[in-house]
Amino acid sequence: QTGLTTLDYGFVNTAATRSAITYIDGEQGILRYRGYPIEQIAHNSNFLETAWLLIYGELPTASELEDFDNRIRRHTLLHEDLRRFFDALPTNAHPMSVLSSGVSALSTYYQDSLSPKDPAQVEISTVRLLAKLPVMAAYSHKKSIGQAFLYPDNSLSFVDNFLKLNFGTLAEPYEVNPVVSRALERLLMLHEDHEQNASTSTVRLVGSTEANLFASVSAGINALFGPLHGGANEAVLSMLQDIKDSGEGVAKYVERVKNKEAGVKLMGFGHRVYKNYDPRAKLVKESAHEVLAALGVQDDLLDIAMELEHYALNDDYFKERKLYPNVDFYTGVIYKAMGFPTRMFTVLFAIGRLPGWIGHWREMNTDPATKIGRPQQLYVGSPARDYPTR
Ligand code: SDX
Repeated sequence: QTGLTTLDYGFVNTAATRSAITYIDGEQGILRYRGYPIEQIAHNSNFLETAWLLIYGELPTASELEDFDNRIRRHTLLHEDLRRFFDALPTNAHPMSVLSSGVSALSTYYQDSLSPKDPAQVEISTVRLLAKLPVMAAYSHKKSIGQAFLYPDNSLSFVDNFLKLNFGTLAEPYEVNPVVSRALERLLMLHEDHEQNASTSTVRLVGSTEANLFASVSAGINALFGPLHGGANEAVLSMLQDIKDSGEGVAKYVERVKNKEAGVKLMGFGHRVYKNYDPRAKLVKESAHEVLAALGVQDDLLDIAMELEHYALNDDYFKERKLYPNVDFYTGVIYKAMGFPTRMFTVLFAIGRLPGWIGHWREMNTDPATKIGRPQQLYVGSPARDYPTR
């Protein structure tokens, strides 16, 4: 589909982006990664297998996956100077700002592997980014709580290494909780790709100029940071906490949303594409109950979230507008139960989305039809006029 079309997105879309990675049917609430339904991926796959599927197009053989996993493990160490880079940042820096800065800085350390046109350089930057982004994410967490950075433990899986980097300390041995590990693996998989969302479109637009992968993904991280996009999971928890602290109750909050009080939205609800229940939200909701029960955590915020969901799903205002819970609505409750601070929630989204960003960047760079991005505009300004003589 090419040519000038004004879609229901409310802006002029010069040409729909062609991609073979993810399919969404917003009316039916369908999401498929390379044709596989997200429900089957969530129940059968793991983060790196799904990453391979999104990046290379097919499920890996056992040996391909083992090799991929081993290559990633061998690149988890950061350059020591890059570790010190984090020391220069303020302790109260938002982890998303720390992460986008760190990813951008990678292009200064690997100047020999930045070309998007050299397959070997694309491969090594893919592996380095998958290996090092979670480590930098954990460092942004440790930095914010004033704890020493740990070194990666390559004897652990991708997810378990990430958990240890966040919650392990030099003071005592760290045991991964298998319930947390499995739940985080599933949550990361559910975030791995989502078609032309704002951050992926950003990665593609920046990458279309032949900018390197680190620069393109750093731009994507910044796009994800916004509260209308990935930042929503952090905003949902703040909303639930506000409802709890105010004691005003769910009904009163919903009224404020319906009255469109300035800035009062039902965070975690609504979507640019889904006009039905986000299939990921159903799977996240399942995990929320499993994780809290397994950890023996009772969280009022989950109760408030379920009450809020029930209220909204039965209220004409939300039904008329086809507003349903999206992927961000329940994730925060789980991340909080796992022990992550609220400011880390969007960083977790970024780790999940990384394979999708890489897959789209590579797909675009290998498509001979790719041209530099140049969104067109509808000019609505002043007609031609002369400069006033004085
Ligand atoms: C993600 O694109 C992706 O795929 C993104 C994502 C991914 O995986 O990459 O799925 C991840 O970003 C999910 C979305 C997370 N954001 C939030 O939860 C923030 C809260 N949601 C909204 O800000 C909003 O729903 C958006 C930004 C997600 C979508 O905004 P739209 O396209 O403007 O929503 P719409 O056109 O469907 O709105 C229709 C009506 C409007 O009201 P009216 O002007 O018709 O009276 O619904 C209202 C909107 O104001 N509305 C909301 C609302 N979302 C839309 N009203 C209250 N609360 C909301 N959350």
